[in-house]
Amino acid sequence: MFVPRPETELLAGWGISVIRPGAVVVDLCSGSGAIALAVANEAPGARVYAVERSPSALAWLRRNAGARAAAADPPIEVVEGDATDPAVLAELDGTVDLVLCNPPYVPAGVAVPVDVADHDPAEAVFAGPDGLSVIRPVLARAAALLRPGGFFGVEHDDTHGVAVPDLLRADGRFIDIDDHRDLAGRPRYATASRMADCTA
Ligand SMILES: C[S@@+](CC[C@H](N)C(=O)[O-])C[C@H]1O[C@@H](n2cnc3c(N)ncnc32)[C@H](O)[C@@H]1O
Repeated sequence: MFVPRPETELLAGWGISVIRPGAVVVDLCSGSGAIALAVANEAPGARVYAVERSPSALAWLRRNAGARAAAADPPIEVVEGDATDPAVLAELDGTVDLVLCNPPYVPAGVAVPVDVADHDPAEAVFAGPDGLSVIRPVLARAAALLRPGGFFGVEHDDTHGVAVPDLLRADGRFIDIDDHRDLAGRPRYATASRMADCTA
């Protein structure tokens, strides 16, 4: 199972900063649930859905989500499925306040550090020849899930600080598109809002 990385705290922190109490939040490609749990623990009353498809990651996600199930806040809803599948959480389409995603994003064939190569599953790390094969459909899924004015944040490879904002612009359903650096100064995550006056 993928080991959560410190830079993802920045994406989670951004998400927590933009929502109000009781928000509906979806964490796509949730892995062990690091983002979902951060939001559920820090945002009072948030209703958090965590989508993951890997059986080994799901086992940890269920365990971690279950560990806080006794809390007064709504439990995290774990959803087994493909984060890019329009049928997954389709019942929430148009209602979600925040979608966050730390997907696989390393271009296939790129050499990765030995700890990644030896311990992280390839399906958690690599995403097609350009590293964007999961982010592309995730953007479309986020646009469908979000309510008008809802927020989207997605982590990306440090070579994609222009490509991911360009994909968000090309989609046509996002505004306030921005890119953010990590603590090492590298482009790390893009954010946007769902356009309000748009029926797509
Ligand atoms: C980079 S890891 C991030 C995990 C977690 N979000 C975090 O920040 O620690 C990507 C995760 O996405 C999952 N994944 C990859 N493709 C997916 C898909 N199409 N649908 C659902 N999960 C997917 C992998 O199994 C892996 O757990």
